[in-house]
Amino acid sequence: MAENPVAVCAAADLPPGSVRSFEVGDERVAVYNIDGTFYATEAYCTHAMADLGDGILEGDVVECTLHFGAFHVPSGKAVREPCCTDLKTFRTEVKDGQVYVDLSAPATTGS
Ligand code: FES
Repeated sequence: MAENPVAVCAAADLPPGSVRSFEVGDERVAVYNIDGTFYATEAYCTHAMADLGDGILEGDVVECTLHFGAFHVPSGKAVREPCCTDLKTFRTEVKDGQVYVDLSAPATTGS
């Protein structure tokens, strides 16, 4: 699949430790800044569709504020019940001060 990075926000608008969600094409995407590294996942919690852009980011885990399930952001893994289905992740890059998300490519983890 072709790479198709889309600019979602200015890097400066998403300080370390924060998460916000954005419409990217037909997808709502949550973008996270974890210690200066940007990550993106699908925005809707896989439990009952709460927007993780309203979630609480603690280290590399985002807690859903609706029923307090949680996900490991870099991998999208569900790490706390009632969440049991993983989130899709998307590749991000920062170019010219803008955060780009590529819906056609999963995140590369472990870097
Ligand atoms: Fe996220 Fe229930 S909607 S834990």
